[in-house]
Amino acid sequence: ADVFTYDPGFTSTASCESKITFIDGDKGVLLHRGYPIDQLAEQSSFLEVCYLLLHGELPNAAQFTEFEHNITYHTMLHDQFDRFFQGFRRDAHPMAIMVGAVGALSAFYHDSTNVDDPEQRMISAHRMIAKMPTIAARAFKYFRGQPFVHPRNELSYAENFLRMCFSVPAEDWKGNPVLTRAMDRIMILHADHEQNASTSTVRNAGSSGANPFACVAAGIACLWGPAHGGANEEALNMLTEIGTVDRIPEYVQGVKDRRYRLMGFGHRVYKNYDPRAKVMQKTCYEVLNEVGHKDDPLLKVALELEKIALNDDYFVQRKLYPNVDFYSGITLRALGFPPEMFTVLFAVARTVGWIAQWKEMIEDPAQKISRPRQLYTGAPQRDYVAVDKR
Ligand code: CMC
Repeated sequence: ADVFTYDPGFTSTASCESKITFIDGDKGVLLHRGYPIDQLAEQSSFLEVCYLLLHGELPNAAQFTEFEHNITYHTMLHDQFDRFFQGFRRDAHPMAIMVGAVGALSAFYHDSTNVDDPEQRMISAHRMIAKMPTIAARAFKYFRGQPFVHPRNELSYAENFLRMCFSVPAEDWKGNPVLTRAMDRIMILHADHEQNASTSTVRNAGSSGANPFACVAAGIACLWGPAHGGANEEALNMLTEIGTVDRIPEYVQGVKDRRYRLMGFGHRVYKNYDPRAKVMQKTCYEVLNEVGHKDDPLLKVALELEKIALNDDYFVQRKLYPNVDFYSGITLRALGFPPEMFTVLFAVARTVGWIAQWKEMIEDPAQKISRPRQLYTGAPQRDYVAVDKR
């Protein structure tokens, strides 16, 4: 009989070779194409990181200008696409809209669904990076009951996105450089993270030759779960539920009694402080200062909860540290987003990672359809029994 390695959750199975992202979970190191995440977050821009992830090198000035043009060229959506949103219930969760709308891109941009053509692969990458903020902002506007705002290509990627989310026809919208920078940084921090559940989903879906829009829609569906991208929404809900610092010990006891998990804590790979969480914490302070919420009670709860958890045996023994989602919720809330949008923002930023990984897989000569095996534990062979004899 065949013998298979049983590895639930793939904790020790490498499903592919990749040159994109390196993680050392014990040391808390994250590198994209060799560059440390904190350097990229502090010194680069999201679009530059997109180029780096897709092409393997940082762009020179001419390459960047061309790339920026390729992205802004595709920021608008087909006019009929807007009607697609109207089919959703008006209170639809924006992630539900994202799963449907991104899958629908394959119907609107059918010309770039040919996965065998390298030029079309690149166009579909540009299209998705360009259109994702427009779709996400529309999901938000629909949820809010406000009119859609069209993209403005002279603005940066992050500023255009914030404008599409927060501008209303009744007043002029003015960007704020501190908040734009924070949005850009949050996107850099979420751009890629090697073979996480949603990225593995994208690769799995793509391994059959499915088109990239459909693959990214599958990735979004996976990202939605509270153990993955849904954690930022859950982390903020948790901090709100705790509410005040005096209620933390009781909450921590509930975690130890295994009644619930501490959201925004723990990671499959990091057994040390998530390097993204460090940058996120700093960004959180900057945004709270800028919007005048320095004394945000939820930040107090978060800081105290982190302190208690990092000194508690339960968390120390299991090497549970804050992950990127612990501070992202407070930051996004201060930027003006409701919790329902948090995972959507994660999806906007992770799109480049998904598509870079999808491209790498398609272009890998060793690529095969993903087809795991199983250990069968069901009934042995037996004969069919007619209904009156059961
Ligand atoms: N709170 C309390 N206990 C925890 C937590 C937590 N957040 N995470 C893990 N544990 C405990 C778990 O109960 C288990 O204890 P024991 O060995 O006594 O049974 C031990 O730690 C190992 O847990 P695991 O579930 O086997 O670990 P995993 O690698 O399968 O899970 C995780 C990783 C991220 C799903 C998990 O840590 C978790 O559920 N965290 C909360 C959700 C979260 O913040 N997710 C965001 C991850 S980072 C961004 C992203 O990828 O989207």
